[in-house]
Amino acid sequence: MARPRVVVTGANGVVGQVLCASLADEFDVVGVDLRRNGRKEIARVDMTRIRAAERALEGADVLIDLASAHWLQPWAKVYRNNIPAAWNALEAARRAGVRRVLSASSNHVTGLYERDEPYDRIVGGRYDGLDPARVRKIDTSMAVRPDSPYAVGKVMVEGAGRYYAESHGLSVICLRFGSLNAAGRPTEVRHFATLITHRDMIRLVRSCILAPADAPFRVFYGVSANTWRFWDIEDARREIGYEPRDDAEAWRKQFEVTSGTSATRRCNSLRRYVPNRLRTLCGRLR
Ligand SMILES: NC(=O)c1ccc[n+]([C@@H]2O[C@H](COP(=O)([O-])OP(=O)(O)OC[C@H]3O[C@@H](n4cnc5c(N)ncnc54)[C@H](O)[C@@H]3O)[C@@H](O)[C@H]2O)c1
Repeated sequence: MARPRVVVTGANGVVGQVLCASLADEFDVVGVDLRRNGRKEIARVDMTRIRAAERALEGADVLIDLASAHWLQPWAKVYRNNIPAAWNALEAARRAGVRRVLSASSNHVTGLYERDEPYDRIVGGRYDGLDPARVRKIDTSMAVRPDSPYAVGKVMVEGAGRYYAESHGLSVICLRFGSLNAAGRPTEVRHFATLITHRDMIRLVRSCILAPADAPFRVFYGVSANTWRFWDIEDARREIGYEPRDDAEAWRKQFEVTSGTSATRRCNSLRRYVPNRLRTLCGRLR
C-alpha cells in the first residue's frame, strides 16, 4: 500500500525541519517553503499564491501548514503573508481532497493571560508559594487573548479552519504550539512552562495524522509534560492519544549554570512583560 503523502509548508523553518526529518520514515513527505535555503529537496512555493498552493497540494493526503512569518512581525506582514498563506492552504487542501489539515496556531493566541497571576510569576520564574499541581490550566474553551498582531492573525487562522471544517467538511486540527527552538531545550526561563521538545512535537503531530477521521475541527495546545506547564492538554491526550514524555525541568541545572545569575535572568524575563518605562528602568538596573 502506498504511504500517505504528507505536504509540509514552511518546511525550512525550525519546526518544519524537525518534522520533515522524522516523519519521512513513515510517510511520503514533501516539503515546500518560500525560501529553499540551499536544501534542494524543498520546493520553492509561496503559499500566498493560490495556484502555487494548489500545485503543491496535488495528491496530498495530509497537509501540515507551518508557513508563517515570525511572531514579532508587524500587522502589515501578518496581513500580507500569514493570513492569505493560511487561507490558501485550506482552500487548496479542500480542492485537492486532502484528508486532514494540521494548521500551526500558537500559544500567543492566549498570550495575555501571562500578564495575570499566577502565569506572570511562572513565566518570570518566580515560583515562591506556588504549587504547580494547583495552578489552573488555560484550556481551549477559554476566551482568546492574543498578545500581538501575529497572534491576532493566528486567531483568524483558527476561525478559517473552523469555517472550512464546518462548511466544507475538511478535517482541521489547529495546534497552539508552545516553544520549540533548534536546541530543543529551555533557553529562557519562560520555557520551563512553555517548552515542547522535538520528540514531543513529533509525537503530537504523529498523533494528529493518525487520529480517526471523526474529528472535523479541533484545537489543541502543543506542549511537553513540563512541571510548570499551564496549558491544558487533557483533551489532546483523550482524543488523539498525545502523550508527551519530556519535562523542561530536566534542563534546570544546566540552565542555571549557563544563563547567569538569577537576578539577571529575572530581569531578562521581566523585560518582556513590563510596560516600556519600567523596561527602561530595568535596563538601567542591570
Ligand atoms: N517554534 C515555535 O516555538 C512556535 C510557537 C508557536 C507557533 N509556531 C508556529 O509554527 C509554525 C512553524 O514555526 P517555526 O518556528 O518553524 O517558524 P520559522 O519562522 O522557523 O519557519 C516558518 C517558515 O515558513 C516559511 N514561510 C513564511 N511565509 C511563507 C509563504 N508565504 N509561503 C511558503 N512558506 C512561507 C518561512 O520561509 C519559514 O521557513 C509557524 O506557523 C509558527 O507561527 C511556532
